[in-house]
Amino acid sequence: MILGIETSCDETAAAVVTWDGEIASNVVASQAELHRRFGGVVPEVASRRHLELITPVVEEAIDGHEIEAVAVTTRPGLIGALLVGVSAAKALAWARRLPLVPVNHLHGHVASLYLKPLDLQPPFTCLLASGGHTMLLDVRGRDGYDVLGTTLDDAAGEAFDKGARLLGLGYPGGRELDLLAREGDPEAYAFPVARVPGLDFSFSGLKTALLYAVRKLSEHELAARRADLAASYQRAIVRALVERIEATGADRVAVVGGVAANSELRASLPDAALAPLPLCTDNAAMIASAARYTDPVPYPEYLSLDARPTA
Ligand SMILES: Nc1ncnc2c1ncn2[C@@H]1O[C@H](COP(=O)(O)OP(=O)(O)OP(=O)(O)O)[C@@H](O)[C@H]1O
Ligand SMILES: [Mg+2]
Repeated sequence: MILGIETSCDETAAAVVTWDGEIASNVVASQAELHRRFGGVVPEVASRRHLELITPVVEEAIDGHEIEAVAVTTRPGLIGALLVGVSAAKALAWARRLPLVPVNHLHGHVASLYLKPLDLQPPFTCLLASGGHTMLLDVRGRDGYDVLGTTLDDAAGEAFDKGARLLGLGYPGGRELDLLAREGDPEAYAFPVARVPGLDFSFSGLKTALLYAVRKLSEHELAARRADLAASYQRAIVRALVERIEATGADRVAVVGGVAANSELRASLPDAALAPLPLCTDNAAMIASAARYTDPVPYPEYLSLDARPTA
């Protein structure tokens, strides 16, 4: 069994996964409550909270399971946050004389598809849409992928979060916007879908369009139109994502990352393989899953291993 550890942003997570992809335990402690009053993740606050949570979260995940390897997200993410997970993983692996597997967080999101019962087999084209990334990936094997396109500015999740903030919704915003959009008319506003060459994405113009639409309204009018704005804004993001997937011409499509939890996106892609809802946003089961297809570093060579903010 593999212990996975994930601390790249504001979820402190640990999970135990078997070598053939069964989830034995999956513990996620979200810090959303802590960062809410700041309207976003404060890196130093996140690091300190990871320090407090990492031991109890790992202990809860292990819960008597026989661990044979420790996997940890080493990149990309908030450097201080990553370092808490990497240090904990090193200590645990070293104390038990186990190998350590350094995992790329983005590979982790894709590997959420390799866990049972979904157990998806490549090849497929994957949309990875999260808080920090929006990419189209050509996945030919479980050990990696090639990047076909990426966002030129904001990530799709970031567009959801910034839109939610402009509409005065709670934090984190993506889910709130998704819920409110169900009560609104998605055709009420014609928000632009950016046309960028190739298979890249752009969401910053959309966010500005929402800002201008909101500015035109009095507080009273905004309250009346909030659901329509949310629905139209969400429609524009989903259209941009779906159009790009269709432009690849791929017949086997998968979607992963926090935005894969979006109800309109899921409904728009009835034939796609969708990451299971609990595995869309950050978790450690996907990290342990990716470790199954990543070279381990043997004991004790990993003590000099470092975290990195970039992929
Ligand atoms: N139902 C939803 N609809 C739209 N967006 C959502 C929904 N649920 C979550 N999100 C968005 O998903 C994002 C979080 O996803 P995830 O945890 O994968 O990102 P991250 O780990 O912060 O970024 P990255 O993986 O790029 O490092 C947030 O931007 C959040 O708003
Ligand atoms: Mg993530």
